[in-house]
Amino acid sequence: MKQQTLRVTENIPLTDSVYRMTLESPDLEEQQPGRFVNIRLDGLFLRRPISVCDSDPGRLVIIYKTVGKGTEKMSRLPAGAELSVLTGLGNGYDLSKAGESPLLLGGGVGVPPLFLLARKLREQGKSVTAVLGFNTQAEVFGEQVFRDLGCRVTVTTADGSYGTKGFVTDALPAEYSYFYTCGPEPMLKAVYRAARTSGQFSFEERMGCGFGACMGCSCKTITGSKRICREGPVLEKEEILWAD
Ligand SMILES: Cc1cc2nc3c(=O)[nH]c(=O)nc-3n(C[C@H](O)[C@H](O)[C@H](O)COP(=O)(O)OP(=O)(O)OC[C@H]3O[C@@H](n4cnc5c(N)ncnc54)[C@H](O)[C@@H]3O)c2cc1C
Ligand code: FES
Repeated sequence: MKQQTLRVTENIPLTDSVYRMTLESPDLEEQQPGRFVNIRLDGLFLRRPISVCDSDPGRLVIIYKTVGKGTEKMSRLPAGAELSVLTGLGNGYDLSKAGESPLLLGGGVGVPPLFLLARKLREQGKSVTAVLGFNTQAEVFGEQVFRDLGCRVTVTTADGSYGTKGFVTDALPAEYSYFYTCGPEPMLKAVYRAARTSGQFSFEERMGCGFGACMGCSCKTITGSKRICREGPVLEKEEILWAD
C-alpha cells in the first residue's frame, strides 16, 4: 500500500450517473486487475474505495457511479485537481486459473474492474467472453471498449431495452473454461448458482479503513474469517459462505 498524490487529467460522464476519471503521477506503479484504490475527499472522514479499471505505469483509470456525498464530490473535480490516493490495495484476480476461454460477468459498476482483467487475458492470447449486465439502456457503458480488446461481448438489460433481456445469468455461453465476476450481491449469488466451472468473485462491500485495521469488512469463508479489503475483494467460488 502506498499513499500518493495523483493529478486528475480527465473526469467525464459516461452516462447520467457514471463517470470515468484518469489519474496520473510519474511515481504511480502499474496496478493489478481486481485491486482497488482508496480516495480521500475534502470534508469526508472515510476514504472512498474504487476498483482499478485500467492501469499503466504513471496512469490509473477508475469508473464510478455517483451515489452519495463522496462520489458527487469526485464528479465535480476538474482536470488539474490533486487527490490523496492509497494505491495497491486488496488481493486481485488470479489470472493463472483462467484456462483458454475465460468468461467475465459484470453488473453495473461491477463492469469496470473486469476491463483491466480482460486486457491482460487478451494479451495472453485467451479467448475472452464478456457479459455486461445493466438495468436499462440508459445505464449501458463499456461495451465498445471490451469489443476493441477483441472480446466476444453480450450486453443484458433487465428491462430488455438493449441487448438480451434479463440478467447476466440469462446470457451464459454454452462453454467456458473459468469465470471472473463483479457486481451487486444478488447478481453474484445468481452467478454462484448458475456457474458450471470454478471462478472468482469480487465483493464491493462497505468498508471502513480499507487497509485491514478495523475488521469492519470481515466475512466468513470456509477457511475462516477474511477481510474483504485485505484478503479480498476477490474470493474463490469454493471458499465463499453466503451470509443468508
Ligand atoms: C473494493 C471496492 C471497490 C469498489 N469499486 C467501485 C467502482 O469501481 N466503482 C463504483 O462506482 N463504486 C465502487 N465501489 C463502491 C464505492 O466505494 C461506493 O459507492 C462509494 O464509497 C460511495 O461513497 P459516497 O460518499 O458517494 O456515498 P455514501 O454517502 O457513503 O453513500 C450513499 C449511498 O450509497 C450506498 N453505498 C455506499 N457504499 C456502498 C457500497 N460499497 N456498495 C453499495 N452501496 C453503497 C449507501 O448505502 C448510501 O445509500 C467499490 C467499493 C469497494 C468496497
Ligand atoms: S475496512 Fe477496515 S479491515 Fe477492512
